[in-house]
Amino acid sequence: MLRFLRRLFRNEGATHANKETRSVPYHVAIIMDGNGRWAAKRKLPRTAGHQAGIVALRRTIKHANEMGIGILTVYAFSTENWRRPKPEVDFLLRLPNEFLKSDLNDLHKNNVKVTMIGFMEGLPAHTRNAVSEAVGVTAKNTGMVLNFALNYGSRAEIIAAVRTLAQKAVDGQVNPAQIDEQTIANHLFTAALPDPDLLIRPSGEIRLSNFLLWQLAYTELWFTDVNWPDFNREHLEEAISAYRNRDRRFGGIKL
Ligand code: IPE
Ligand code: IPE
Ligand code: MG
Repeated sequence: MLRFLRRLFRNEGATHANKETRSVPYHVAIIMDGNGRWAAKRKLPRTAGHQAGIVALRRTIKHANEMGIGILTVYAFSTENWRRPKPEVDFLLRLPNEFLKSDLNDLHKNNVKVTMIGFMEGLPAHTRNAVSEAVGVTAKNTGMVLNFALNYGSRAEIIAAVRTLAQKAVDGQVNPAQIDEQTIANHLFTAALPDPDLLIRPSGEIRLSNFLLWQLAYTELWFTDVNWPDFNREHLEEAISAYRNRDRRFGGIKL
């Protein structure tokens, strides 16, 4: 109970302070893109790019934690990535196991709380088990939230929410006239999380690729040509400094 209250206090405090000072975005989301191109430039197989992407993830978690970021959401595998050749899909879906096997202890020691958004049931058992273990082990941690988007797709997420709500309406549990933004938000994978403050996409692509379409409505977007495996502390600092200079109005006007 005490732990819960402490966490509540800490998170609320961080969110509030962030809103006041905007020194560091509270929730940062990253589309970890460009692994294949990083490898191609070096005449390496795409899988080498994905391995190098893990190294970039490890250092980004460390830096984000040091900078006081509250939530780091990383897009690791999309519902559309199943379209890739099976060997690449298999390789990508083994990476969470590999990463958590080597890093879970450190994450836990650093008070990081691992969570996941996405269609868990569509993942192979070995991926599911690795993620469930990490979520279980770190469940009571009160530090940075490391949120993996795995088998995640925003449109599929919205479809699932609409189906659940429609069924609740049919069952008389929901009054359609009372469905509002909060109702929808509560039915998304991100129900427990505030919307991202900053979205980072490396690799030079200027698109969202079906990532958090609802949740990014008022998020500040930052793009860089650097491929994900080359992403380092300087890029993260550059993104945060750009974020600090943005004027977030949420449709209002600056008084
Ligand atoms: C990101 O790198 C990894 C995933 C999408 C899982 P890519 O594999 O998309 O790399 P590019 O975009 O082909 O360079
Ligand atoms: C987005 O990258 C998905 C992840 C990084 C997990 P993609 O490489 O799949 O995106 P597109 O196909 O270039 O839009
Ligand atoms: Mg890509």
